[in-house]
Amino acid sequence: MKKLFIKTYGCQMNVYDSARMAELLAPIGYAPAETADEADVVILNTCHIREKASAKVYSELGRLKKIKDERPLTIAVAGCTAQAEGAEIVARAPQVDIVVGPQSYHRLPEMLARIARSGGHALETDFPALEKFDALPKDSSPSGVTAFLTVQEGCDRFCTFCVVPYTRGSEYSRPVIQIEDEARRLAARGVREVTLLGQNVNAYNGEGPDGRVWSLARLLHRLSRIDGLARLRYTTSHPRDMGEDLIAAHGELAALMPYLHLPVQSGSDAILAAMNRQHTADGYRRLAERIRAARPDIALSSDFIVGFPGESDRDFEATLALVRDVNFAGAFSFKYSRRPGTPAAAARKQIPNDVKDARLGALNDLLLAQQEAFKRACAGRTLDVLFEKPGRRAGQAVGRSPYLQAVHVDGAAHLIGSIRRVAIDAVCPNSLEGSLAPDRERMLAH
Ligand code: SAH
Ligand code: SF4
Ligand code: F3S
Repeated sequence: MKKLFIKTYGCQMNVYDSARMAELLAPIGYAPAETADEADVVILNTCHIREKASAKVYSELGRLKKIKDERPLTIAVAGCTAQAEGAEIVARAPQVDIVVGPQSYHRLPEMLARIARSGGHALETDFPALEKFDALPKDSSPSGVTAFLTVQEGCDRFCTFCVVPYTRGSEYSRPVIQIEDEARRLAARGVREVTLLGQNVNAYNGEGPDGRVWSLARLLHRLSRIDGLARLRYTTSHPRDMGEDLIAAHGELAALMPYLHLPVQSGSDAILAAMNRQHTADGYRRLAERIRAARPDIALSSDFIVGFPGESDRDFEATLALVRDVNFAGAFSFKYSRRPGTPAAAARKQIPNDVKDARLGALNDLLLAQQEAFKRACAGRTLDVLFEKPGRRAGQAVGRSPYLQAVHVDGAAHLIGSIRRVAIDAVCPNSLEGSLAPDRERMLAH
């Protein structure tokens, strides 16, 4: 038996891909290792989104070289940096044996066999998405209560700052039947909550069982009927692809959780245009209102970029104004990072780093205050909690609220895998504390 260690960087789709790679290699004799030090094969599943993310890979490769100088070790670089840099990786770091892009990793078994046979390097960075999903194994390893499921991959939106359309290729939607099969298998293994993944997930347009093109809303309706699947989420959405039927689905489907990640990036129309986001700040405000009208208890989260080329103080003020108007329960904000090959990297008016730092600080202060307020408002509410794992105290269990908050509940250890009403008693820095509340049925019976 050989040992495999996979280190995952970047987004949830990389987490999903890493799990698929482990499943692909298990039947040919690779068991999971806890660390790189005890592994025969190490795969770095990389992210290319910002400069820092891809720089991390080279420092890790330096560390792995030290291990490889002492004993045999096969090193593979997978994911988005592999796709973007290809052969450059081997030129810079000759200790790397395999470079494999996100659409070609189903070929790993054959690539490993090839280098074992004849040495040298193996490189695959094609885009055969169709082939990949067909080639991946169907029986999945044991999993927890929640799981990711890729339904759509790639992006045709070409935001001017972003590498994803180049690293993940053009949009591809898996057929409904294939997704439904995978969801049923997950449910049969005890998964209660599935997060549908796509770089531009709400642009999903896969082939339905009737041979027609189905939207994400139709797919969600279909999946909501699977026994055992109590909760559905999807990420990440583009504001321009929030169709009428998808907004309506938030009011129609109890399984669809009232928490939506809907990146806006900026609140300035000039910057949104320069980013090629194809909507205005007011367009986003109106969209948020429509979503809230369909599902009043929905909470929104977002991504922001500060210091995009040409961003003036007034542009940045407009971002703060949008945040104040919309009110977000969660957010990620980033300093603009110049990515090779993207249109914005060539823009003349790059913003100095100290200005980016100041804007990031101010934006984060505002976003954190909103996050805190949202969290505090949960105290005294009764929320449905899906219990996922034992807590630190005896008898305690940790679960997730509909808003993805961790909730600790005493006397709930026997409830892992089920959903219960929980009265939220206390708000802690990184989680909530609650106690089991009578469920609705019992309350009605009284
Ligand atoms: N497909 C998703 C996620 C893309 S990457 C979407 O459309 O939102 C996640 C986030 O990283 C983006 O929303 C953006 O805020 C940020 N990001 C992408 N490229 C970046 C860059 N060059 N510099 C800084 N942040 C970036
Ligand atoms: Fe990148 Fe824009 Fe596509 Fe999101 S929608 S992956 S930010 S190009
Ligand atoms: Fe990173 Fe690729 Fe995901 S660049 S964010 S791993 S799609």
